[in-house]
Amino acid sequence: MKILVLEGSPHKKGSSNLLADNFIKGATENGHEVQIYDVAHAKIGACQGCNACGMNGDCVQKDDMGKIKELILNTDMVVFVSPIYYFGISAQLKTVIDRFYSFNSGLMNKGYKSALIVAAWDNSEQVTSFARDHYLGICSYLGFENKGMILGGGCGTPQMTQNSIHIKKAYELGKSL
Ligand SMILES: Cc1cc2nc3c(=O)[nH]c(=O)nc-3n(C[C@H](O)[C@H](O)[C@H](O)COP(=O)(O)O)c2cc1C
Repeated sequence: MKILVLEGSPHKKGSSNLLADNFIKGATENGHEVQIYDVAHAKIGACQGCNACGMNGDCVQKDDMGKIKELILNTDMVVFVSPIYYFGISAQLKTVIDRFYSFNSGLMNKGYKSALIVAAWDNSEQVTSFARDHYLGICSYLGFENKGMILGGGCGTPQMTQNSIHIKKAYELGKSL
C-alpha cells in the first residue's frame, strides 16, 4: 500500500524522524511504497476558520497544503510524526491537521489507515498520553484505522532515541503492515 509519512519536527535529523526512519525501513522491507513529507519546513498557514471551503472545497490559502492534500487523497495510510512540545504534537503538524478541514469529507470514513510516532524527553507514560488521546480522537472522528503508536518517552536526543526500545518498536510497526 501507499504510506505517507508527515514529519512535524524542525530537527531534520532529530529523534522523531529517527523513529520514523526505522518505521519506514520495516514498511519498505515489506514492499510498501513510502513517501515522506517534511511538514515542519513547508509553508503552511494556520486554518482561518473562514469556512469558505464548506469542509469540502478549495481552501482560500494557496500554500504547500495543496500538495499535501493531493498526497493524502492518493495514499492508503497516513503516519503522523512529531516531537512532544508541551505535552502535545508540534504546532507545525497540528497546523496541517487543522487544514484537513477543507477536505474533511474526502477523509472521513474512506478506509484510511494511520499511525502515530512521537518523541519526548521525559520517560513517563503521561508525557505522551495527551498526544496519544488527541490522535485517537482524530482516528475515531475521521474513521481512520489505527495501525499502531510509537509513544517515544525517553527519546530526548537522537542518541537517547537510538538507545531506546522505541527504535525496535518503530521498525516492528512498519514490519507489521
Ligand atoms: C518547545 C519544546 C517543548 C518541549 N516540550 C516537551 C515536553 O512537554 N515534554 C518532554 O518530555 N519533552 C519536551 N520537549 C523535548 C522534545 O520533545 C524532545 O527533545 C524530542 O526528542 C524532540 O524531538 P525531535 O528531535 O524530533 O524534534 C520539548 C522541546 C521543545 C523544543
